[in-house]
Amino acid sequence: MKIGVVGLGYVGSVTVAVLAEAGNEIIAVDVDRDKIESLSRGEPPIYEPGLKEALTRNRENIHFSSSFEQLRGSAACFLCVPTPNRGGKIDLSYVVSASESVSSVDANTVIVIKSTVLPGTASMVRERAGMRVVSNPEFTREGSAVEDTRHPDRIVVGSAGAPEAQLVENIWKFTGSPVLRTNNENAELIKYASNAFLSIKISFINEISNLCERIPGGDVEVVAKGMGMDRRIAPYFLKAGIGYGGSCFPKDTEALLSFAQEKGDPLKIVEASRMVNEGRISRFLDMVKRAEPPSNATDISVLGVAFKDSTDDIRESQAAKLVRALIPLYRSVYFYDPVVKTFEGATRCGSLEECIQQSRTVVIATEWPEFGRLSTMGFTGNVIDGRRILSPDISEKFYAVGLNHA
Ligand code: UGA
Repeated sequence: MKIGVVGLGYVGSVTVAVLAEAGNEIIAVDVDRDKIESLSRGEPPIYEPGLKEALTRNRENIHFSSSFEQLRGSAACFLCVPTPNRGGKIDLSYVVSASESVSSVDANTVIVIKSTVLPGTASMVRERAGMRVVSNPEFTREGSAVEDTRHPDRIVVGSAGAPEAQLVENIWKFTGSPVLRTNNENAELIKYASNAFLSIKISFINEISNLCERIPGGDVEVVAKGMGMDRRIAPYFLKAGIGYGGSCFPKDTEALLSFAQEKGDPLKIVEASRMVNEGRISRFLDMVKRAEPPSNATDISVLGVAFKDSTDDIRESQAAKLVRALIPLYRSVYFYDPVVKTFEGATRCGSLEECIQQSRTVVIATEWPEFGRLSTMGFTGNVIDGRRILSPDISEKFYAVGLNHA
């Protein structure tokens, strides 16, 4: 099938690779010519495990272009353009302009909205562009996006008409994943409700972790494990830490909150989750300052600046916020991240070994599995684990989120 993909960021470039691998002819369009050039050379502009290989393996099936004209004759066109927040409100201008460009080329193409958009957007696009519009939100995580797209837990297909819903269902048939068919509005809300719920799980366990720090022998890792053994609760997204970041949870919860407020039914639990998350850095900073009092004669080392492991993305990264907060407090902040190479105001080290040699205090800010090696490196200084990746017996001077230190 000839399929278009517009917008080649994290979601779009992974969609291109996976749909090409399934045997489709993909027209991959982005208005950014530099991005098109680098993708055409086989260089994705982002770090995502397995993406480069999948694009290279399937390059025969992919045509990169900055011209919408190439989309003519596509059965479906996936919109994977950004939907940023501006002043707390979602900006839909990229979705609107991309759909209008597609409709001017071929009005028979089915528009498939993958971008995260508020309920009502697909109907608005349908009216403005005069096209059939399917809502097909994505649930992939950065760092495992290729695998998540090949094998999603579910495929949500929202539309007003059955033929276009069937078309999109057929496109994803190769995944073997269960399909939920509904209207556009429910599909749009499923995406926001899912992200908001996951953010609530994280903030909940982070509040429980605060409590653990106050209870003799308290350890949130054990509490989360015990909770997660209940199948109704499940063990996922119960990892306490310095909070959630990235390009999705903070932005999507904010957009959902203002949408609900506008509708006259504010989401109090989502609001509480956001507030808890906002307090994570200052609380963790207090823990760091107790272990290593700030001084302009002292250096500090931070492991990780990406918002999570297996990505180079530092958008809304809690780790990056932490580094920014540490910079004015200490003489030098050294950092090591396996893929993020620069950070203004901090000095990058080329390896974990080099980074821990710089100071007597090491702070773990991102959950890269590689940092687990610290436990075998004989480091005797302060270790402050903001992501709970080390075992508490690593050092006598071990401090961690959700662990009582009495
Ligand atoms: C999230 C959702 O998990 C995806 O389903 C969704 O498709 C995506 O947003 C999106 O809307 O595009 P992502 O932001 O890539 O995916 O990453 P997550 O794995 O969800 O992690 C988000 C943040 O939560 C990270 O900062 C991570 O460190 C933190 N986190 C996650 C925790 O602190 N504890 C956990 O137990 C899980």
